[in-house]
Amino acid sequence: MAESLILSLESSCDETAGAIMRDGREVLSQFVASQTDLHRTYGGVVPEVACRAHMECLLPGVDKLFSEAGVTPGRLDAVAATHRPGLIGALLVGVSAAKALALAWGKPLVGVDHIEAHIAAAGLAEPALKTPYVALVVSGGHTNLYAVDNDAAGVERMTPVAHTLDDAAGEAFDKAAKLLGLGFPGGPLIEAAARAGSAGTFAWKNACLPGDGVNFSFSGLKTAVLYAARGMAGRKGPLLLDEKGVSDAAAGFQAAVVHALVSRTLDAARRLGVGWIALGGGVAANGCLRAGIRAAAGAAGLRVAIPPPRLCTDNAVMVGARAHKLFAAGARDPLSLETAAR
Ligand code: KG4
Ligand code: ZN
Repeated sequence: MAESLILSLESSCDETAGAIMRDGREVLSQFVASQTDLHRTYGGVVPEVACRAHMECLLPGVDKLFSEAGVTPGRLDAVAATHRPGLIGALLVGVSAAKALALAWGKPLVGVDHIEAHIAAAGLAEPALKTPYVALVVSGGHTNLYAVDNDAAGVERMTPVAHTLDDAAGEAFDKAAKLLGLGFPGGPLIEAAARAGSAGTFAWKNACLPGDGVNFSFSGLKTAVLYAARGMAGRKGPLLLDEKGVSDAAAGFQAAVVHALVSRTLDAARRLGVGWIALGGGVAANGCLRAGIRAAAGAAGLRVAIPPPRLCTDNAVMVGARAHKLFAAGARDPLSLETAAR
């Protein structure tokens, strides 16, 4: 594969991130500026707030990338940015910056799909990962299973094989945490609360497995958490659970989500006859999911590729990894490259 030095930008949701990487693998410098503290007061990501923060952090971050990497823009082979899917205004900040920099420096532009980047992070973590494989992408906006193979240019190509019928898994974590009075972002807070709880107290184990035998559904579990936490008064009602009850509900919720993710992923791997499972997206930072997939895959004789937690949540290293593959295969995007929410 051709050599490359690429600057990659990520701004699809509430993390502003950048990286300079050689050959999509060697990270010369990187940063992730999380906006969690800004959004916490609102209990969720506010698009307008996210855009302003991206505007403030992006170019100063890029400046630092070059000084830390000890390279000049002239040495770059391309500028890459996430251009879909995500919050449209947030995407526009990163893509507009990438276009301006590419134009100013006379470098090619490469647009990267955020989901494909999450999957590329698994290949960084596990260089032996080989197609065909099944990839589970679980984040705040997506819960999808893909069959991954290679296109004619040798670049991984993702074909969707299962999806959520309603909420994304990360979104469910965030909403359940709110109902349980744990705060934002929900994933890490539910995981922490669940450590002190018993998953068997609430009978939710199969709540996320719709009858179609293939897809996911998290809205029924969310309603179950709502009634357990707030009773018939609804989401504005007082919290009815004590500390132990909250831990039990967190543990029951997490166990149900993990059970669905693990069983559907293993089913898909068996059905498609692949030897590898890859994980990506913020929810893949969850210790219970990581352990569950490893155990089930091990028992089935399958190998797993799971990025370290810092490469599961949004970052630009995954964008650089995907951009390198596309660039090496000849992908170049025009300055009219569009952003897309979906
Ligand atoms: O991939 P990501 O950083 O952003 C999107 O592309 O959406 O994923 C964010 C999601 C949030 O919903 C967050 O609650 C969830 O990932 N998350 C977790 C954990 N860490 C982050 N969910 C469960 N357990 C975690 N440890
Ligand atoms: Zn993401």
